[in-house]
Amino acid sequence: MTGRELKDMYLGFFREQGHAVITGSSLIPQNDPTVLFTTAGMHPLVPYLLGEPHPAGRRLCDCQKCIRTGDIDQVGDISHLTFFEMLGNWSLGDYFKAEAIRWSFEFITSKRYLGFSPDRLSVTVFQGNANVPQDTESIGIWKQLGIPDARIHALPEDDNWWGPAGQTGPCGPDTEMFIDTGRAACGPACRPGCRCGKYFEIWNDVFMQYNKQVDGSYQPLAQHNVDTGMGVERTVAMLQGCSSVFETGMFRAVLEGIESMSGRRMTEHADTGRAFRVIADHVRSSVFILGDEQGVSPGNLGQGYVLRRLIRRAIRYAKQVGLQNGFTVPLAEQVINQFAAEYPELETNRQRVLTELKNEEERFEKTLDRGMAELDKVIGQLKAHQQARLGGRVAFRLYDTCGFPLEFTEEICAEHGITVDRAGFDEAFEKHRAVSKQSMDKAFKGGLADASDATTRLHTATHLLHKALQTVLGDHVHQKGSNITAERLRFDFSHPAKMTDEQVRTVETMVNAVIQRDLPVTMGMMTVEEARADGAMALFTAKYGEQVKVFTVGDYSKEVCGGPHVQRTGELGRFRILKEEASSAGVRRIRAVLEPAAPG
Ligand code: ALA
Repeated sequence: MTGRELKDMYLGFFREQGHAVITGSSLIPQNDPTVLFTTAGMHPLVPYLLGEPHPAGRRLCDCQKCIRTGDIDQVGDISHLTFFEMLGNWSLGDYFKAEAIRWSFEFITSKRYLGFSPDRLSVTVFQGNANVPQDTESIGIWKQLGIPDARIHALPEDDNWWGPAGQTGPCGPDTEMFIDTGRAACGPACRPGCRCGKYFEIWNDVFMQYNKQVDGSYQPLAQHNVDTGMGVERTVAMLQGCSSVFETGMFRAVLEGIESMSGRRMTEHADTGRAFRVIADHVRSSVFILGDEQGVSPGNLGQGYVLRRLIRRAIRYAKQVGLQNGFTVPLAEQVINQFAAEYPELETNRQRVLTELKNEEERFEKTLDRGMAELDKVIGQLKAHQQARLGGRVAFRLYDTCGFPLEFTEEICAEHGITVDRAGFDEAFEKHRAVSKQSMDKAFKGGLADASDATTRLHTATHLLHKALQTVLGDHVHQKGSNITAERLRFDFSHPAKMTDEQVRTVETMVNAVIQRDLPVTMGMMTVEEARADGAMALFTAKYGEQVKVFTVGDYSKEVCGGPHVQRTGELGRFRILKEEASSAGVRRIRAVLEPAAPG
């Protein structure tokens, strides 16, 4: 079974169980500053998990593109991927554990669907902690379905709890499903969750039944939700009898591309295999980030920084296996060709993806030249002082600030009879990693969109700004990204030139005039086509016939959006643009705030 077939079969199965098939979202979260990328299918659905009604109903399913780079340095083993596709089905206060588990079991084991023997299935459930009891209900359901005790493992929070880390929000125990690959256990402690490769996790059913409070306690949630996630690549690996996601057909074209361009075989050496995997994974992720509806460019901050690291890491491994400059472009074309039918945004953005990759390769080449010059200097100094060892901190500085890989430093030093203090490098690296991981984790976990009054007001202000920009600058203005915190809004939009001061002032005045008119904000549900025919502004990535919410501000603006919004524009106060600047080529960025209205 191919990835495409699996996706069709899964969505078809859940449609039969009364689920609406919705379109997956952009990889770049909208209006949620707590995460850099969409990391799970549930992420774009957070407002609905918190109780807002979804226009498509209470049973949903989709295939969501996801990026997880929390452990980017570990990618290269047999199972880690930074980009992957996640199939999911959701109950928004509708069905709960019994149905969710029964359907998962049926889909995995029935001959009509995936057809895995139930004997190969092991599951894990939440064992309970001081706050929440053991999930005996799920254990009971698995037993009823015929899974013996020996293959039901009760595990702690680290393994079987999904939800906000250190924050408030919906969360709950989960039950994970593993396929036994048939390999020998690595030891007596080997169980699902062990990384030796015997057990392959393919699906996770989360039961969101608690709301974590500020004091750390768990209140039962009024609405019981189900949130599930099945990894497409992992499931395909099991269906195709592979022991790694990279052996599946989903990676064949890219890996063969690397083989033919490098003249090397992936299997010739463990290091070659690792390099191939890193290159394939990182090029795939880069293509999806660059080709996203909200495409990002390589940069030094946020998503752009992650993207840059992915591309540069791919280049570094490419050098190891002798790939020539420019290798990213043909590999990216393979990825686009493979996925364009399912993700049309890749085809639309094909040229942009290829150009950005080529430019970043060239930029990195220059960085390497600078690093080389710096290293030459260091080697000269060492020789002058008759030293034969380069300090770990110096090697780390070359790595961190010049982007110069340690292996390059070691190779070049070796040519001069100089060794590199690897332990010192590792120490500096770990220290840095601990610090950056803290900030990365902050950016990656969480994921629960803020619906406070302050952000709600800024959501509505964003609609007014969008419309005012179109009126002042022209119809070419489209939203390219939006990010809202309780303090400010940030809005990216297509426009080729810097706005003049006068244009900025006109936009500001226009928004404030609409606020003054105290227009009502109303919400209606309609199909995508109806919304378009109605002149609503939107990204229009939703599929034909899909129901969407349209927010209308009096006679002023109409926009497809998930909300939340204020009831009347008069609640907004005074709108002020703080800054208008470039975001990337052809995209401008505005930062703006709402201030209390002047009295009187
Ligand atoms: N949100 C859950 C996960 O990603 C289903 O594993």
